[in-house]
Amino acid sequence: MRGDLERVLFDEPAIHRRLDDLAAQISNDYRALDLTVIAVLHGSLMFVADLLRRIPLPLKLDCLSVASYHGKGQSSGEVVFKLPTVGPSGGGQMTLPDIAGRDVLILDDILDSGQTLATVREKLETAEPQSIRVCVLLSKKKQRAREVDPDYVGFEIEDEFVVGYGLDFRERYRNLPYIGVLRKELLEGG
Ligand code: IMP
Ligand code: MG
Repeated sequence: MRGDLERVLFDEPAIHRRLDDLAAQISNDYRALDLTVIAVLHGSLMFVADLLRRIPLPLKLDCLSVASYHGKGQSSGEVVFKLPTVGPSGGGQMTLPDIAGRDVLILDDILDSGQTLATVREKLETAEPQSIRVCVLLSKKKQRAREVDPDYVGFEIEDEFVVGYGLDFRERYRNLPYIGVLRKELLEGG
């Protein structure tokens, strides 16, 4: 898989050092609050696991699964929630995590067009939490389709397609322990 990368952006020690700082900041900001972390799967899996183990607070963890469709590494803007539904015939209302009155921190892998996080945030606001903040491991420097102002950012990166440490291209490369830029010809190859 390393051969499919143009270059490595952040190796494991660099990621872990940055997580130490982020975790310290979050632990301090939430020390007197009722923290509920909402992880946006699957991309945030490694990030969430490594970050939360550095936060010594009595937090709760819940997960959301969304699909945002990408062709050639571009977001289509369509965000679909994959949540359990309740009600007759299973076609009823989506069940959101129970976050009423809680201080919610949304964790996601990467902020690109902003569609995913703007949609997730809007959806969670309907469940009446006390507060909502957003934490992303990576934020692309670019004009966004929807404005999202993340409260915590691991690293700012250029507008390039990256994989590894949870991030995929067509469901591959998530298990790389580092983050790198995928070779352009692989993105264009379909
Ligand atoms: P957005 O809705 O365009 O902000 O995109 C958010 C989602 O698209 C992320 O949670 C990722 O799953 C995916 N994504 C965006 N950019 C990249 C990338 O460079 N590499 C891998 N996945 C990406
Ligand atoms: Mg993805």
